[in-house]
Order: sequence, then C-alpha cells, then structure tokens
Amino acid sequence: MAIPIILDCDPGTDDAFAVLLALASPEIEVLAITVAGGNVGLECTLPNVLALVALAGADVPVYAGADRPLLGAFVNETRVHGVDGLGGVALPAGGEPADGVAADVIRRVLREARRNVTLVGIAPATNLALALITEPALAEKVERIVLMTGAWAEGNATPAAEFNAFNDPEALAVLFACGRPVVLATLELTAQALCTPAHLARFRAAGTGRCMRALCDIQATVPLGPRFAGAGSALHDPCAIAWLIRPELFTTRDCTVTMDLGPGPSRGRTVIDRWRRTGAPFNATVLETLDPDGFFSLLGERLARLP
Ligand code: BDR
Ligand code: CA
Repeated sequence: MAIPIILDCDPGTDDAFAVLLALASPEIEVLAITVAGGNVGLECTLPNVLALVALAGADVPVYAGADRPLLGAFVNETRVHGVDGLGGVALPAGGEPADGVAADVIRRVLREARRNVTLVGIAPATNLALALITEPALAEKVERIVLMTGAWAEGNATPAAEFNAFNDPEALAVLFACGRPVVLATLELTAQALCTPAHLARFRAAGTGRCMRALCDIQATVPLGPRFAGAGSALHDPCAIAWLIRPELFTTRDCTVTMDLGPGPSRGRTVIDRWRRTGAPFNATVLETLDPDGFFSLLGERLARLP
C-alpha cells in the first residue's frame, strides 16, 4: 500500500526534483503539497510548485503556507536557486492554489486520515510546526516526520547551521519534541547525492519528457561551488523522498538531536549526538550513508516516467 504523505516544500531547485520524484513514485500517495517561503519568497515558491504539479500532469492540491519563520528574520538562498527559485527556467504557469492555509490543511488531513500520515519536510519547518503546536493531539496521526535538514558537522547557511534549520530553528525544535519518529537527511547525507554534469547527461539520455528536460535545465543553473571543488552540487531534498521509496539504499543511526536556539553564531545548529555522549533518549534517526548509484538510478528511472 502506498505511503500517504503531506509534502511541505519551498522550490527551490532541489525541491523541484523531490516534488517530481514523489509524484512519479507509486510507493507514495501525495495527499497534499504545502508551501513555505524559504529558498525564495512564498510569492515564488507557491507558483513554482503549482507549475511543477501541472508539468507532471498530477492532480494534487497545493496550499500556501507561512512566508516567514516563527521568530527571527526570513533569509533566502537566491545565490543557489536564482531569484525565482528555479534558476530562471520559466515553466508554463500552473493552476491555482487550493483554498486553505497550510497549517490548517495539515491538521485537517491528519484529523480525517484513516491511516497515519507521514509528514515530509524539505523547507523551513514552519508549516509543520504550526500544525502540530495548534493541535498537539494530532501527532498521534503522524506516522513519522521525514526531514531534509540539519548537519552533524558544518552548516551551509552559516558555519554552524543548515539552511532549513537556520531559517526556522524554533519550528524544528517543535518537531523534535512532538513525540513522533523523526528521520533526518542531513547535509552529510545529501553530500553523497552529489549531482555532476555526467549525471545530468545520463538523465537527459534516460528521458525526453518535459519534466526531465525542465529538471535538467534547472539543475544546470545551480552554481558548482567550492564545497565540492566544482565537481557538482548536492541534490538535498530528493534524498528524503528516496528514503521513503528505497530505504535499503541508506544506512541509519538513532541519535539525540538538540536545537541551538540561541542568538549567537550557532543559532539553528542541529547538535547531533551520534555516539551517545549525552545519554539522552533518542529523538531522531539520522540517515548516514547513501548508495549514490542506486539513488541516481532510482531518480533517473522515476523521472523518466513523467510526461
Ligand atoms: C536545503 O536548503 C534549501 O536551500 C534546499 O532546498 C534544501 O531544502 C539544503 O540545505
Ligand atoms: Ca528545500
């Protein structure tokens, strides 16, 4: 039976891969897509999701959510994702967002669900946290929370913090405290999903549909920065979806994660105790390794199924 999910995202070049991977995969039933401001403002992330859903010919409701974090200032990542979030690759406009606000919709879907729902977060965690803090009892309808966020070593938004965690650390702390299993694809994991020009060439050869073409065009705009010595860029967000579809491609470790919510230079850091140094109870499963060949074959094969 397909895993029912709500996908919370902020496209975002790598979000675009995650959204289309989810829509292309029969192992997953996307009940709703909720959207936050993140990589770029909500005024771009929302139409970006609508365009991607339309490109895939999918019939999934898309809801607008938070355009800012619970506390603190909103920051974007236009250096990586471009000012429009998709590297300037213009997609045909999609439809209209469905009526309702993300947090309300997440609660409604959970309340009405006959099977527990998996929450997948690949954006600042604001929408998911707002849903759970306004009706905490609904956490029992959450199967698990799968997030692309955090890092056990250095960050990418700041030396200490990963972008999604940095953009709403308080929201992320709410998720760790909600009592449901949390699975983390951190920067160390997503570094193993290093997308090189050779991967893009293979994708283009594997599928000639408009979705594959758009994704390759979008990914080709992502700057190949110094982190990987110009070799490629990490496809962060699809790792969270790939884990749901093919967990055997990953190894995992149960850990204790504490959020740094202070105002200092480590704000937004996910302090991950991988070696039981604190003795505190586990509150997350951290994805540690990924089989890159398996990951890129899965991605290529699934995306080639789309129109
Ligand atoms: C995360 O931040 C965003 O820039 C990406 O879309 C991804 O969700 C990586 O740190
Ligand atoms: Ca994202």
